[in-house]
Amino acid sequence: MIKPEKIPVHVSIIMDGNGRWAQERGKERVYGHAAGVESVRAVTEGCAELGVKYLSLFAFSEENWGRPEQEVSTLMKLMFKSMEEEFDTLMKNGVRFRVLGNRARLSPELDEAISNIERATAANTGLTLIIMLSYSGKWDIQQAALRMAEAGAHDLEPFLVTAGIPDPDLIIRTSGEKRISNYFLWQAAYSEFVFTDTLWPDFRKENLSAALQEFASRKRRYGKIDK
Ligand code: FPP
Repeated sequence: MIKPEKIPVHVSIIMDGNGRWAQERGKERVYGHAAGVESVRAVTEGCAELGVKYLSLFAFSEENWGRPEQEVSTLMKLMFKSMEEEFDTLMKNGVRFRVLGNRARLSPELDEAISNIERATAANTGLTLIIMLSYSGKWDIQQAALRMAEAGAHDLEPFLVTAGIPDPDLIIRTSGEKRISNYFLWQAAYSEFVFTDTLWPDFRKENLSAALQEFASRKRRYGKIDK
């Protein structure tokens, strides 16, 4: 059992390794993405049970638009289908759903479906599930800087897409890679990192618990020294 005060408020996950998981099974990469949806379900449930308030998932980067057209369109369809299928469960569990990123690049149909679910779940008070879609850290800082200048303001934070959401306490990356990959460049200033070799489609509640255990053992100093 982890002490409640040691549970991170915001957990973020770089879901990596879907392609390799599929290839290991002699299947196409998209098969791994479909399997990854089950992991999304498991960690959402796990976070709600453990008392995590915000779960953000890096689902698609600005750079991912450069993948083969068939993989991109399958991923977008998967997003659409999963949202429709999970809507009732989100409502039943009081989950607030948000999608953050460069939404202008999404198809109008997907963008509208997302807005509808965001609106319908806006008053829910349980876990906030945030899908980072068409997102990259540099893009976020650039768009925030532009809007800040237009507004004649001096604080960047209210203009980031994550405005109002606490910075991630813990960032987990699966599949053995140890990079930030243009993810939360601003928001990760004081995040703790946990890297695991587990490929995303194999990631389950036990893996989440292990990462939270590791987080609970860390000492955070925010650039200061121990008293
Ligand atoms: C990284 O694996 C994973 C992605 C680019 C997509 C993540 C998407 C999902 C899990 C499915 C849908 C999500 C939601 C929120 C319903 P990779 O393809 O980079 O794997 P590789 O490094 O092994 O090639």
